Amino acid sequence: MTAGGRSLRVRPGARGSAEADTADDLAEQSVTREEAFGPGSPVVVFDRVSLAFDEEEVLRDISFTLIKGHTKLILGASGAGKSTILKLILGLIKADRGVVWVNGERVDQLDEESLMAVRADLGMVFQEGALFDSLTVRENVGFRLYEQTDQPLDDIGRRVEGVLGFVGLSEYIDRMPSELSGGQRRRVAIARAMITKPKLLLYDEPTTGLDPITASTVDDEIVKLRDLESVTSIVVTHQLRDAFYIATHSAVPDDGRVRIVPATGEKAEQAEFIMLRDGLIVFEGTAAALRESADPYLRTFLS
Ligand SMILES: Nc1ncnc2c1ncn2[C@@H]1O[C@H](COP(=O)(O)OP(=O)(O)OP(=O)(O)O)[C@@H](O)[C@H]1O
Ligand SMILES: [Mg+2]
Repeated sequence: MTAGGRSLRVRPGARGSAEADTADDLAEQSVTREEAFGPGSPVVVFDRVSLAFDEEEVLRDISFTLIKGHTKLILGASGAGKSTILKLILGLIKADRGVVWVNGERVDQLDEESLMAVRADLGMVFQEGALFDSLTVRENVGFRLYEQTDQPLDDIGRRVEGVLGFVGLSEYIDRMPSELSGGQRRRVAIARAMITKPKLLLYDEPTTGLDPITASTVDDEIVKLRDLESVTSIVVTHQLRDAFYIATHSAVPDDGRVRIVPATGEKAEQAEFIMLRDGLIVFEGTAAALRESADPYLRTFLS
């Protein structure tokens, strides 16, 4: 894997195990704590991950590295294994072979209790939003804090109001999910995912089924979270228009407001597409590189 232009291998933590690494190898390959956890460090690493369901190989030797603050946009036909990658990151399923690192932990090896600690730093926006129908927007958004912490209710209330303000839905706090539009439900789902201030957010088809205008309001939230809250993101989507929009825009504060502007220079390099096909990564690169690719499969997918 590479970070900041040089090859690096993160020394496994206390709960990890070195795979056939000699002490000399480790000394040569390991990085310092500052390198491993500072800017430019990996948040998610897949190292030759393979997985089959029954006889069908869904992922074959998948390797990629997601750097802090960057975005991976995962594309691929239905059944290509996109959601499976998110489930591996969450530790909901285990790979047959290979290593999955998340925030410095080997989630392929952790027990359920340690996985809970890793998941506490993760936010997931599920396909269709997946809100609890019988809970209000306030209860949906605050759910993890109400259920999993003993924070004072007033503090949770303020945090819920804060994240709903971030996604522009403050006045909907006491509504039921059935009283929201599809786009509003997705934005509530994003507010719910960000409530614990996760460092990594996973989005599974965040805009599928939405009209283009509504989808762009969801895209803007993804861009804002990444650029204003330094959230590292993985976006799984069929929606090419949304994927390109997220990859090529950035959010900048402007006199108390937020402006979404075209991403330039280094910023444009920080969003990378991954195209999955038949269990393999057939393309990995920026929006500009994807647009220029002459690969027939990519051209068909993009047209
Ligand atoms: N728990 C499971 N048991 C058996 N097969 C599974 C399981 N989960 C997924 N699969 C299979 O693995 C393949 C990849 O599934 P996955 O959900 O990752 O696809 P996807 O790329 O997210 O597709 P979509 O775009 O339709 O959401 C599919 O063929 C699916 O049928
Ligand atoms: Mg899926």
